[in-house]
Amino acid sequence: MLNIAVLVSGGGTNLQALIDAQNRGEIPNGHISLVIASKPDAYALKRAEKAGIPTAVLRRKQFSSQEAYDDALLQKLAENRTSLVILAGFLTIISNRVIHAYENQILNIHPSLIPSFCGEGYYGLRVHEEALRRGVKVTGATVHFVNEVCDGGPIILQKAVAVQSGDTPEVLQRRVMEQAEWKLLPKAAALFCAGRLVVKDGRVEIKEEAE
Ligand code: GRF
Repeated sequence: MLNIAVLVSGGGTNLQALIDAQNRGEIPNGHISLVIASKPDAYALKRAEKAGIPTAVLRRKQFSSQEAYDDALLQKLAENRTSLVILAGFLTIISNRVIHAYENQILNIHPSLIPSFCGEGYYGLRVHEEALRRGVKVTGATVHFVNEVCDGGPIILQKAVAVQSGDTPEVLQRRVMEQAEWKLLPKAAALFCAGRLVVKDGRVEIKEEAE
């Protein structure tokens, strides 16, 4: 059983999807054993507490340097004996030091079909605003490994979602969550924990399920 740490900043609906999937037995080789929030009022913390998952709060601004923050984050992850880190709407930048300590062990969910509408500045509603501005007919979500390039790591899973006429950024965001994000993230976690994700030359190969 691999220990999973989920890092959150907001409402935590993706965390909830992970908890629900775990409760349904859909992540048989993994266990969410820690939730770390970047601020004390993140509603995601309430969801974790309700599910009986230990929590911690690490605010970047509490620390005098990036180094001190990284030390604290790495210590929390090590204490948890973390095998998989999941960024589920986590808004604090993860430094290269942390990325290298958990190379190909950090998953992120991004609410577009990468490489569209991604990279620096593309987070939250901004992503959907830009998709609507450009007039794409299909958008979606992507789960990828985290590397030094913002939203540039190896892609694990993607799912397309239709844009409909009259969509507002909020309506589109909700549809992308319901139809893509909440399904993809638990699925990627389960694949990782089953040892089925192989990264080669910057691309992810999904191994067949062992008999
Ligand atoms: C999601 O749209 C996710 O794709 C993005 O941040 C949002 C988090 O929402 N990275 P929630 O906190 O999981 O509800």
